[in-house]
Amino acid sequence: MALLELRNVIRRFGDFTAVDNVSLSIEAGEFFTLLGPSGCGKTTLLRMIAGFDVPDSGQIFLDGQDIANTLPEKRPVHTVFQSYALFPHMTVTDNVAFPLKMSKVAPAEIKKRVEKALEEVQLPKFAHRFPHELSGGQKQRVAFARGLINRPRLLLMDEPLGALDAKLREDMQRELISLQKEVGITFIFVTHSQDEALALSQRIAVMNLGKVEQIGTPSVIYGTPANRFIADFIGKINLMEAQVTQISNTAMTLEINGLGTTVLPPKKEIQAGDQGVIAIRPEQVAVHALAKQAEIPHAHTGKVLDFLYVGDVTTYVIELDSGIQIEALLANSSPGRARFFEVDDPVIVSWPQEAAQFLVDRP
Ligand SMILES: Nc1ncnc2c1ncn2[C@@H]1O[C@H](COP(=O)(O)OP(=O)(O)O)[C@@H](O)[C@H]1O
Ligand SMILES: [Mg+2]
Repeated sequence: MALLELRNVIRRFGDFTAVDNVSLSIEAGEFFTLLGPSGCGKTTLLRMIAGFDVPDSGQIFLDGQDIANTLPEKRPVHTVFQSYALFPHMTVTDNVAFPLKMSKVAPAEIKKRVEKALEEVQLPKFAHRFPHELSGGQKQRVAFARGLINRPRLLLMDEPLGALDAKLREDMQRELISLQKEVGITFIFVTHSQDEALALSQRIAVMNLGKVEQIGTPSVIYGTPANRFIADFIGKINLMEAQVTQISNTAMTLEINGLGTTVLPPKKEIQAGDQGVIAIRPEQVAVHALAKQAEIPHAHTGKVLDFLYVGDVTTYVIELDSGIQIEALLANSSPGRARFFEVDDPVIVSWPQEAAQFLVDRP
């Protein structure tokens, strides 16, 4: 049985539907992420799991029990917020001990458990400091320690790393992964950052406009996005408008606007005439000097419009003869600043036909 199950959960504010018929289940011990753009309903969903808000319809089960009528403080759930929510007049130790004091745990036991919790988040040296004497990352670690001290079944985290700078955020992401492995508690993590979701999660639910659009492992979400929205939202991708001209049991022929035909393996429930996009990741696109045209199958000619060097890779924007722009990501694996091509260089681009995916538009 799943640890947490949401069944057809709906939450409306006036005539606006913030959470629109969400069903999902989360297994014990998972690191599960709700990912989606700002305003898609992530916080609203989390608040209903925590019990701060109630669904207009649908059910929430924890260990198979409907928790609709369970008060937030009676749920074995703790929420960590981006704003840390620490008590400013209490030391780190007292902040972490607070939930145990509230539950009237014996002082000797509190001392033992707080020491252990501070070790888990690598803060023993800061036990006697006050929140204003800590960095953002340290404050967030205190909040995690306080969240875990009562050993909840579920730790909910609403954009907890959102206030940290990029380098620190990456360190904290690694620490969160090991922390979760160490304590074995189920984490539900909310973020609008696709990088963060891919880096942290065992499974991701991608949300848009209150709906869950796809649930899967990071590699499934990145490698086989279910639709145009997800393809566009997760990572960089080239999307080219296309139409199915023919489909059989063995092949699907498509006309890509301005680029001619391509043949892909057939997909279920697709018919001749269907519109959609061909999606291809920039790291799958190869760029060659024009002279190689005769050797490269499925090649398209164009010229370099722009490029962006970011250290490990260079992103090239190629304008094809038809006017379509394609991005290609080339790894700078040799030492020094690799310059494969200059702006206005005539080039050809190609990609393995099987790396392209057709994502059909459904109303
Ligand atoms: N209490 C509320 N009253 C009215 N509208 C709300 C309320 N809470 C959230 N909303 C709206 O519901 C939508 C989803 O909000 P939220 O769950 O906070 O999104 P996210 O966390 O994904 O950014 C937003 O359009 C927001 O304005
Ligand atoms: Mg939010």
